[in-house]
Amino acid sequence: MINLHPQLVHFPVALVTTLFFYELWCRLRKEKSNQNTVRFLLVLLLLGAAASVGTGWWYEENIPHPHEGAVHAIMEWHETLGFAALGGFALLCIVYFFLQDKKWGRLFYQLLLTLLLAGTGLQAYLGGELGHTHGLSLPAGEHPPMHLHEHQGHL
Ligand code: HEM
Repeated sequence: MINLHPQLVHFPVALVTTLFFYELWCRLRKEKSNQNTVRFLLVLLLLGAAASVGTGWWYEENIPHPHEGAVHAIMEWHETLGFAALGGFALLCIVYFFLQDKKWGRLFYQLLLTLLLAGTGLQAYLGGELGHTHGLSLPAGEHPPMHLHEHQGHL
C-alpha cells in the first residue's frame, strides 16, 4: 500500500520555518510583514499539516508496524505531537486572521509561531527516528527486527 507521509511532511516543516524567518527578517528591518504573503503561507501551512496528520494516521491504521518497544513509544509521542501541532497551526491562523490588530494578539502570534517552529523540529526529528533509525519507511517485510536495535549498542 502506498504511504504518502514522507512526501507530504516536508511542506509543514519548510513552511513554518519560512514563515518564522520571514517574520524575523521583517522585525529586524523594522518593517511590517506583508499581510497577503503571511496569509498565503499560513493557509498552505495548515493544509500541509492536515495532509501530514491524515497520512500519518492512515499509516498507523493500514500499514503493518511494530506495536511494542521503543519504536511504539516514539510513534505514540509523534502522533500526539502531530495532532497538537495541527491544533496549534489552526490557532495560529485564527489569531493572525482575527486578532492581530490587538497588541496582545500580535505578541501571542509571535510566541505561538516560535513554539510551533520548535515543536515541528522535534516532530520531524521523531519522524526521522521512526522512518530511518527504526526503518518504518521501508516496506513492511523489511523492518529491522526489534532485537537488532537492542543489541546494536553492545556491538
Ligand atoms: C504535523 C504533523 C506531522 C509531521 C510534520 C510529521 C513529520 C514526519 C517526518 C519528517 C517523518 C520522517 C519521514 C522521512 O524522513 O522519511 C515522519 C515519519 C513518520 N510519521 Fe509523521 N509527522 C506528522 C504527523 C504524524 C501522525 C499524526 C502520525 C500517526 C501516528 C505519524 C506517523 C509517522 C510514521 C509511522 C512515520 C514513519 C514512516 C514514514 O516515514 O512514513 N506522523 N513524520
